[in-house]
Amino acid sequence: MYKEEELNYAYDTLEPYIDTHTLALHHDKHYLTYLNNLNEILLKNHFKLSVPKEEIIYHLDLFSATDIENLLFNLGGVINHEMYFSNLGRACNKPKGELLIQIERTFGSYEQFQKKFKEKAMKLKGSGYTYLVMNGKKELSIINLPNQEFPFLYDLKPLLVVDMWEHAYYIHYENRKHDYLDSIFAILNYEEIEKRWETT
Ligand SMILES: [Fe+2]
Repeated sequence: MYKEEELNYAYDTLEPYIDTHTLALHHDKHYLTYLNNLNEILLKNHFKLSVPKEEIIYHLDLFSATDIENLLFNLGGVINHEMYFSNLGRACNKPKGELLIQIERTFGSYEQFQKKFKEKAMKLKGSGYTYLVMNGKKELSIINLPNQEFPFLYDLKPLLVVDMWEHAYYIHYENRKHDYLDSIFAILNYEEIEKRWETT
């Protein structure tokens, strides 16, 4: 059984970029539903290993074949949301150090990276997420994944994730997806993103 990861900031911290109502609904309803569903599936399949959530995918043989699709969907819902909420905040919204160097090496500059990230996110069809990921050699790339897939399924480590499901932005931004993306770059918590970069 996995416990709720609480927000490490108040519901109104991200105003005016992410409004209080959207954030509260997103965390307390959408995320918690995925977590409850995940725990139900684990219970039903008598899964008792205490492993980090992203390692559950190495133990799929412990689950009934008919539950795997549902397990992966809800597991992704939990992993993606926990990463998303924790890579937002007001701590530090510019990368520095080794990560900044690697971003500049890969994309030309931090500004170019932001532009490419937004372009990629705008190309996502339907619901899903846009990520900055790294492979085992710490090479960076920007990818889109549909629904609740997550980069660990493809042996990639997520550094930054943006929720592109409509529930993440629609109440405030309606169909102005590009404005939502602009706002995200004002509230990224690079202290958290750098931690992910450093712990390989
Ligand atoms: Fe979401």
